[in-house]
Amino acid sequence: MRNSLVLALSGLVLAPAVSAQAYDSGDRDREDFSWVQPKNTTILGPYGHVPPVYPSPNATGVGGWEDALQKARDFVAQLTLEEKADMVTGQPGPCVGNIVAIPRLGFNGICLHDGPLAIRVADYASVFMAGVSAASTWDREILYQRGLAMGREFKAKGAHVALSPVCGPLGRSAYSGRNWEGFSPDPYLTGVAMEETILGHQDAGVQATPKHFIGNEQEIMRNPTWKTNGTVGEKVQEAISSNIDDRTMHELYLWPFANAIHARAASVMCSYQRLNGTYACENSKAVNGLLKEELGFQGYVMSDWGSTHSGVSSIEGGLDMNMPGGLGGYGMNWKAGSFFGGNITRAVNNGTVPVERVDDMIIRIMTPYYWLGQDKDFPGIDPSTGDLNTFSPRSTWVREFNMTGERSVDVRGDHGALIRKHGAAATILLKNENKTLPLKAPKSIAVFGNDAGQITEGFYNQDEYEFGTLVAGGGSGTGRLTYLVDPLTAINARAAQDGSLVQQWLNNTLIAKTDVRTLWLPTPPDVCLVFLKTWAEEAADRASLHVDYDGDDVVDSVARYCSNTVVVTHSSGINVMPWANHPNVTAIIAAHFPGQESGNSLVDVLYGDVDPSGRLPYTIAHNASDYNAPIVTDIQTDGFYDWQSWFDEKLEIDYRYFDANNISVLYEFGFGLSYSTFELGEINVENVAGSNITSRPEHLPVQPGGNPALWETLYNVSIPVTNTGDVDGTTVAQLYITLPDSAPEGTPVRQLRGFDKLSLAAGQTGVANFELMRRDLSYWDVNAQDWVIPKGEFVLSVGFSSRDLPVTTTLTPVKGCTKRKL
Ligand code: NOJ
Repeated sequence: MRNSLVLALSGLVLAPAVSAQAYDSGDRDREDFSWVQPKNTTILGPYGHVPPVYPSPNATGVGGWEDALQKARDFVAQLTLEEKADMVTGQPGPCVGNIVAIPRLGFNGICLHDGPLAIRVADYASVFMAGVSAASTWDREILYQRGLAMGREFKAKGAHVALSPVCGPLGRSAYSGRNWEGFSPDPYLTGVAMEETILGHQDAGVQATPKHFIGNEQEIMRNPTWKTNGTVGEKVQEAISSNIDDRTMHELYLWPFANAIHARAASVMCSYQRLNGTYACENSKAVNGLLKEELGFQGYVMSDWGSTHSGVSSIEGGLDMNMPGGLGGYGMNWKAGSFFGGNITRAVNNGTVPVERVDDMIIRIMTPYYWLGQDKDFPGIDPSTGDLNTFSPRSTWVREFNMTGERSVDVRGDHGALIRKHGAAATILLKNENKTLPLKAPKSIAVFGNDAGQITEGFYNQDEYEFGTLVAGGGSGTGRLTYLVDPLTAINARAAQDGSLVQQWLNNTLIAKTDVRTLWLPTPPDVCLVFLKTWAEEAADRASLHVDYDGDDVVDSVARYCSNTVVVTHSSGINVMPWANHPNVTAIIAAHFPGQESGNSLVDVLYGDVDPSGRLPYTIAHNASDYNAPIVTDIQTDGFYDWQSWFDEKLEIDYRYFDANNISVLYEFGFGLSYSTFELGEINVENVAGSNITSRPEHLPVQPGGNPALWETLYNVSIPVTNTGDVDGTTVAQLYITLPDSAPEGTPVRQLRGFDKLSLAAGQTGVANFELMRRDLSYWDVNAQDWVIPKGEFVLSVGFSSRDLPVTTTLTPVKGCTKRKL
């Protein structure tokens, strides 16, 4: 893993000094070959021959931004060319990204900050649960409330733009280092999570930035490599190219971005790597074609930090804002100049770039700014952010910044209580033999593992650390904790109420090689709680799916002698669990990265104050070798374009793959236990679209999110759910569809298309509701270039996980094909 990190970072050291190279449109020439067909396939998709998509479409404000767009136009009309260049080019300053002020127009600039679980470069801010935990809640309301609370903290610190949320990576590979920042490899679940999070952020008055667009499914090789030659670098190898066919693009990777745009996201961050041969940020098919034309995106596309690889090509390809603005590794070599900046004025003056294109870039930037009312009473930047920002320290600033906010303002409010509640709702109970949990006033508790206690290396961790519980990974998606309730502290506090004895051993090396009986002499504890963790970070991919620090050996060592061993994981994502079926492992909890109240959230579930209602947002296989779609690591050749990642598995990622190949798994997608039990009643399907459902959607004028006909509800499905246990509980009813046989080859066996979380008192019955929209019932037809509802009979399956689907019914939206066997 460390080697991978070095490899990835080495590509960031130097970039070419600005020169004619900044205007090299060579990448554009390559675009004819960019939408290549996956090798060894016979799929006839348009990507072999789709032409480049130019010009970049102008924003119209359609979908509710019309008034704001007019204000943006009026603003642009007053700008000089130099000011226009400033508006689209980042500068060093107090925030992670900075657009400078134009005081004569009363414009205070734009402050952009990471990230998806906290405002990262800030003091006195909260650390919320990570995306993988948020997805585990399967709870729309929580997803929204989390997004809202985060948005309020960004705004109170003076950040106009939150670089959040993440749906790229989607989670093609279990190993990707940033899966935890995003939600789930299922595009439907992630799509809902994106939409709710963005609504939350933007209802707080902060711009959301869904990222990274698109195909950013691994960390290593995400940047080109450079040979150092004094201060000027010579490019040695281009970044990896994610080669994705058209159908896979639409049905998996673009899907949640469509939700994001539908939710009116202000901005989209394009990714580092190449996509079908061309860098994502200058990929006109992706940015102009998919995002701005097909999805009707009205906001602006900003580059990831240093992912701009050209000037004119990027501008023509649809990039609207260059971040952080400078050239060089991560764009941090501020002195080296910029692909944008002064080059924009030159390009406009010499006629290379029409000023109308630059105007549209700024209109796209300023429209959401006005739409969210950021021109009125927006809090000034907290000066402490400038001190914390190692990315562009004060010594690099060349412009003035209005840091008029209160210094070290405490923006946490009552979010601690919210984070505790959310963390508990994200906790997934995977195994619970003999009703081990909830704990019932045990006389003696033994706590094991280096994940149980307090962090020993400070509250802002960019590197893996041995001792201390994990609530976030490393990189730009992390957060700066102000406090952390670790599991051991919370257990001690709760155990004191029962007078329980709590003893702990936190050194994994010691536990793994010790006869644990010597640790707890003379009497065995009633329960042994083993805490395990798995780190992941940006710019590196995971080397293994096992837990870190010999965690498997720790479980073996404890379970050998403790007949009531409860394992808790705090992991960035998928782990294999070779000890899952050990008879002494009586309960397993996957708690992921639950945020600053981690211990309290866990204790609430361990003791039954909260029913475990988290459900797996991915599949846990029996063996690591069962997973497909590995990270590309094995390219030994050093040709300029040799780093290629072929998404040959197409739609078969995560449960789609295991279902298509009938592979048995340990815990399936959607699985999780409650302390109660639930049963389903009779399913009811109501057609709300009338009898004339057509295969192809009506072609309505595009709105944000694409053709509005795709978002129309065609069916309302409902089903009674009864809590049949003797305790109150919470469950997640899930609906999956199977498309008719007339759908093209490669169509997944089952796909999630609805979920509803219900809290029910013992004996109570509630109703789970699912809305099926046109897109939910369609596949992407590569020839028609449209979403198509296949003719014939669909199967709807409802249950409590992707492999526990006791209720099925059929549906035939479009007649004309054979019946399908249930
Ligand atoms: C690079 C990361 O990929 C992106 O997610 C982040 O927002 C920027 N750096 C800024 O820190």
